[in-house]
Amino acid sequence: MEPILSPRLLAAAKLVRQGAVLSDVGTDHALLPAYLLKEGRIKSAIASDIVKGPLQRAEETVKKYGLKSKVTTLLTPGLQGVEEYAPTDIVIAGMGGQTIAEIVGDAPFVKNSGIRLILQPMTKGELLREFLSGAGFVIEKECRIREEHRIYTLICAHYEGTPYDLSPLELLFGRVKKEERDELYFSLLEKKKEQLLQVTEAKRKNGVDAEQENALLALIEKELSEK
Ligand SMILES: C[S@@+](CC[C@H](N)C(=O)[O-])C[C@H]1O[C@@H](n2cnc3c(N)ncnc32)[C@H](O)[C@@H]1O
Repeated sequence: MEPILSPRLLAAAKLVRQGAVLSDVGTDHALLPAYLLKEGRIKSAIASDIVKGPLQRAEETVKKYGLKSKVTTLLTPGLQGVEEYAPTDIVIAGMGGQTIAEIVGDAPFVKNSGIRLILQPMTKGELLREFLSGAGFVIEKECRIREEHRIYTLICAHYEGTPYDLSPLELLFGRVKKEERDELYFSLLEKKKEQLLQVTEAKRKNGVDAEQENALLALIEKELSEK
């Protein structure tokens, strides 16, 4: 029997390269490394977590699928102690964008163009993109996936060393080429538009200026008009 992944984790799995040494940070149940090993997609994995309970769950999964020789489990914050295993692909999924940015920022060894980062923020994607662009990580691609009532974004990046700017829309929704603008991309725009309309209305009632929100709304509406 093979581990079954949610659509969100399956989308992350697809971005891991064939033959990778995978680091799965905040692994919890370690289903992602177990799935990729069972599929013959990766060479080995480091499954780490900052909390004992999740790491124990990870160890149970490793045992259940007979993967002890291929998976190192580590109780550690972020990427601390992971460098010595020489990961080629690093997944950090299911955490806030700020936490993910801090984990990447605290690990200088990931500043290596051969290492692929696969990041799936639950919140604050804009903070994560701001960090990546400012620190010289190129965002290779992004994809979106719907699971139940939520849309998740996955960011695939690597280090090149030249910082660059992203526009306000790119910070919020990613640098998405015209041909890549799918239904989920437009759903995210619609959702943000609704939020901004609520904020601007509340500000208007309180006599507070909403210049920033209105400027962003105009950009979103222009983007939506090209649907
Ligand atoms: C919601 S779970 C996500 C599990 C799995 N990555 C996924 O996407 O389904 C978040 C996990 O990250 C762990 N975590 C949170 N902050 C962490 C950090 N700074 N370093 C390592 N693990 C962390 C938590 O203990 C928890 O097990």
